Amino acid sequence: MKEIRDINILAIESSCDETAAAVVHNGREVCSNIISSQIDLHKLYGGVVPEIASRKHIEKINQVIEEALKEAGTRLDDIDAVAVTYGPGLVGALLVGVAEAKAIAYARHLPLIGVHHIEGHISANYIEHPELEPPFLCLVVSGGHTHLVCVRDYGKYEILGRTRDDAAGEAYDKVARAIGLGYPGGPKIDRLAKEGNPEAIVFPKAHIADAPYDFSFSGVKSAVLNYINGCQMKGESFRPADVAASFQKAVVDVLVDHSMKAAEEYGLGRFAIAGGVASNSALRESMKEACEERHLKFYHPSPIFCTDNAAMIGAAGYYEYLAGIRHGWDLNAVPNLRLGER
Ligand code: KG4
Ligand code: ZN
Repeated sequence: MKEIRDINILAIESSCDETAAAVVHNGREVCSNIISSQIDLHKLYGGVVPEIASRKHIEKINQVIEEALKEAGTRLDDIDAVAVTYGPGLVGALLVGVAEAKAIAYARHLPLIGVHHIEGHISANYIEHPELEPPFLCLVVSGGHTHLVCVRDYGKYEILGRTRDDAAGEAYDKVARAIGLGYPGGPKIDRLAKEGNPEAIVFPKAHIADAPYDFSFSGVKSAVLNYINGCQMKGESFRPADVAASFQKAVVDVLVDHSMKAAEEYGLGRFAIAGGVASNSALRESMKEACEERHLKFYHPSPIFCTDNAAMIGAAGYYEYLAGIRHGWDLNAVPNLRLGER
């Protein structure tokens, strides 16, 4: 017989350019994690094209869900609830996942749980760290978000700071395009920076007066573009690896600096990172060192759980399920959903 704590969640994620489904057992055990990436399609255009993303999600979603159930060795009969990202993200892309989740939940008489995408990213840390429990601080850095968050409890978040303009991943992608590396730029800059000198060029690090935990990356992005333009106008060559390494240093230094200030003030003893940029090797290394110096326990998901995936939505959905959160058949996509809103 099934124990009360034995909960299998079918999770669906389609907020941007990955069509993903997963089966997650009791919030922390990933039974399957299927991701169909559209990167090859979007890189032809240098970034995500929303209309193409929605169309591709429609094509792939059933196949991805079937695969997730099969790989987990489960059938829909074994599923206790359906969790789905309903915001923030691209509206057309979100609608595909939301409509799919509603159809399955309705047909199978299952509870429906809408999950906030950032809550998913944060919860990715629970998957490989069974001992991690709130409260802790988390830096969420992705293509669409840069948030410094205090996780007070499961489902209870306080945003300490956020970006005023570009997200960290967005800055990586734009700088990569300027250097001619293509989309998505983050992993390419990460790789190229290993061959460059991070001290070669001094790019600005933004600190915002009276908002010590807020970020701004548009200045460093413009400085890199101006540097490259300046070199080209003067007919001078530049070393892309040095630009990549110096840009990365400016971004990582600010992320670590603000994070550690918050960690010292809040004194929770645990610090986590999440989101696509959390797979960046320089950020992971720097953050690990800074946490060790301050005797903080440092948590980060494996790269596959940093970038968009559905396992993280299953982890977050489980704690929402335990808290009694159930969404109605009128659940809609909310492109600018705020963290902590339901
Ligand atoms: O979390 P994610 O998959 O999607 C959003 O929710 O936005 O993050 C994607 C972002 C992209 O901007 C990508 O360039 C960046 O994460 N990224 C990285 C790395 N891997 C992915 N940025 C820096 N270094 C990496 N290794
Ligand atoms: Zn994401």
